[in-house]
Amino acid sequence: MGEALLQVRGLSKRFGGLRAVHDVAIDVPQGAITALIGPNGAGKTTTFAMIAGFVRPDSGSVRFAGDDLTGWRADRIAARGMVRTFQITQPFAGLSVMENIRVGAFLREPLPAAAERLAREIGTRLGLGPMLDRQAAALTVAGRKRLEIARALATRPRLLLLDEVMAGLNPAELNEIVALIRAVHASGVTILLIEHIMQAVVALAADAFVLAEGVLIAHGTPREIAADPRVIEAYLGQGAAARMAWHG
Ligand SMILES: Nc1ncnc2c1ncn2[C@@H]1O[C@H](COP(=O)(O)OP(=O)(O)OP(=O)(O)O)[C@@H](O)[C@H]1O
Ligand SMILES: [Mg+2]
Repeated sequence: MGEALLQVRGLSKRFGGLRAVHDVAIDVPQGAITALIGPNGAGKTTTFAMIAGFVRPDSGSVRFAGDDLTGWRADRIAARGMVRTFQITQPFAGLSVMENIRVGAFLREPLPAAAERLAREIGTRLGLGPMLDRQAAALTVAGRKRLEIARALATRPRLLLLDEVMAGLNPAELNEIVALIRAVHASGVTILLIEHIMQAVVALAADAFVLAEGVLIAHGTPREIAADPRVIEAYLGQGAAARMAWHG
């Protein structure tokens, strides 16, 4: 096997006295859907922020498509083909849905008319067609998640980092977004996703990395990690795995 598309090694970040991320290593193979999971505050978003150039790591390295991008700015990393979505969606409320997507499209299409064409094409593909000329502020939670993915996709990434795009959705919306992520993947985009909803992780990901308190504690198929006592304890507290085995 060749080198993974994304290779993260020894990535660490402290915020004052808090060890938010410590010595994290992640491989994302070209063409895969890989998951990053873990309890609240585990360091998942901080890991994404370091990978995508929004937060400078204290140490460690980020290699993408064979190049060392450690410490690069987010826009340069996006130009290379790696882009993240934001867990807390913050569309430009005064702009239309199309104009929000066009912000991403400008990376590849400097001319406004061409950028608008690309934005409309991607927005339509993501089910936002009827909303394209409405204010972004008018979108529902599910619509905002789609807009967040559309804006990222408009940069034409090779690797898309999705940060909890399923949080706050109802079961029908959840099924739709799982289908949408499959379609994006089928179009040739490699995906690394942060997700709390295990059902979605099992449905989508071949491989999952588990973070707890800033440290990687497990790595395997979603089914393997769901049965891993260290993972169960990280989510449910010390002794939980033993209690479950006792009762199970
Ligand atoms: N800019 C910051 N300054 C100080 N502390 C931060 C900062 N960003 C994150 N943290 C802290 O770092 C830890 C990891 O946060 P992070 O957002 O990466 O976790 P997460 O795994 O994404 O959690 P969640 O599932 O709740 O989104 C938390 O304790 C958080 O409060
Ligand atoms: Mg987070």
